[in-house]
Amino acid sequence: MEIKKASKIGAKDNVAYLISSEKELKTADFSKEELTFIKAELKAENKQVVLNRFNNYAFVVLLDKENDYKTAEKARIAGSILLNEANKLKLTGITVSSDHKSSSSFIEGMALANYQFLKYFSDKKLNSCKAVKVVGALSASDLKDIDGIVKAIYHTRDLVNEPLSFLNAPQIAKEIEKLGKEAGFKVEVLEKAKIKALKMGGLLAVNQGSIDPPTFTIMEWKPKNAKNKKPIVLVGKGVVYDTGGLSLKPTANSMDFMKCDMGGAAAVIGGLYAVAKNELPYHVIGLIPATDNRPSGNAYAPGDVVTMHNNKTVEVLNTDAEGRMIMADALSYAQKYKPEIVLDCATLTGAAAMCIGHYGVVAMGNTEAKTMDKLKESGNNVYERIVEFPFWDEYNEQLKSSIADLTNLGNGPGGSITAGKFLENFTDYPYIHLDIAGPAFLKKPINYLTQGGTGVGVRLFYDFIKNYN
Ligand code: BES
Ligand code: ZN
Ligand code: ZN
Repeated sequence: MEIKKASKIGAKDNVAYLISSEKELKTADFSKEELTFIKAELKAENKQVVLNRFNNYAFVVLLDKENDYKTAEKARIAGSILLNEANKLKLTGITVSSDHKSSSSFIEGMALANYQFLKYFSDKKLNSCKAVKVVGALSASDLKDIDGIVKAIYHTRDLVNEPLSFLNAPQIAKEIEKLGKEAGFKVEVLEKAKIKALKMGGLLAVNQGSIDPPTFTIMEWKPKNAKNKKPIVLVGKGVVYDTGGLSLKPTANSMDFMKCDMGGAAAVIGGLYAVAKNELPYHVIGLIPATDNRPSGNAYAPGDVVTMHNNKTVEVLNTDAEGRMIMADALSYAQKYKPEIVLDCATLTGAAAMCIGHYGVVAMGNTEAKTMDKLKESGNNVYERIVEFPFWDEYNEQLKSSIADLTNLGNGPGGSITAGKFLENFTDYPYIHLDIAGPAFLKKPINYLTQGGTGVGVRLFYDFIKNYN
């Protein structure tokens, strides 16, 4: 979807007028009859009034006056409603006329709602609406930033929606290389031989049952004017498909959507894409360990002891707890950058999804409290709200093994936390773990979140880095 600035409204443009009160209606924009009609509709609490004119459609959209994160979210939703309406009416473009403070959120909501994944349809029914023109307070550079974020989300959703039959571990590395070229970040792909040389035992163990080799991809955005001396490192779980392995997923439909198990990787890739595309002045590194997890004659087995990249040993008690095996290696690899902070993002535990559903992101960490507060603020800004779970050391008690340094399976309550604690054992820096098992993938669309991969994490990372000091 093209988003661009215009100096004035064209005679045949379909226009969305964003207002926060009836008083903002300009008499020049409407006929007398139209004004009477609009006012009556607004009084009847219709917040999206449609005028079907001879040459065009006009939409009057009533948004809240306040400028807080809840208003911004309502504006995104209003944008998605308008966009769906425009597509139903087969309109090819919308001109947004607005000085409203939430107009950027409105436009973002429109663009995010217009995403489609049509690659595998023989008859591709493309949405009609292809362009948004903006008349009003937003500058061309504001719009360029929105466009960069929207592109990042589209790419992220594409990656999540791609099935394993296309997106195996070597392919995700290739996709990252393509996106690096497009957005301007550096990409290095480590192949299996290098992964072996680095002794990434966790990634190699999970990959043992696969017919495809694993990959480990390093992304880097290092602008000359970087404000941080030590990098921010993002790590994403790239399990391109999760069958559970020999501990095969037990319940009826639990495997149906497991192509989304690289949702954390996709969020990190999209995050780097947006940061690079919009040239944020921060040094950011992204790490993506990738493999599928499946049973085979050679698959890793419950009871196996694996020596990880940092030489710690792990007794595997459940091969379905594979995410932490590959993430642990990536997190210990991250130590070499002496990072200022590391955030990881993973569809790590069904328990996180059970706790809060798709409504937010589970976070836990050991940074200063103010860093977590900043992340929560970003979570509100982009409406990917953060729920902080405890990260008490006592949870480590569940990870004691009788024959190795750790087990990969907590044996009690708090499954999302023991998974996070497991990962913390592989870090030596300020660390925040994000579990997106709930919001990464939707079976049905919700407002501007289309069906399938949502792109959760991308806008969160972007906002957090943009406001990083
Ligand atoms: N990929 C799953 C977690 C998941 C579940 C993601 C639902 C998205 C939706 C993960 O690898 C997994 O299988 N976790 C197990 C851990 C358990 C074996 C300790 C789980 O949550 O059941
Ligand atoms: Zn699993
Ligand atoms: Zn998994």
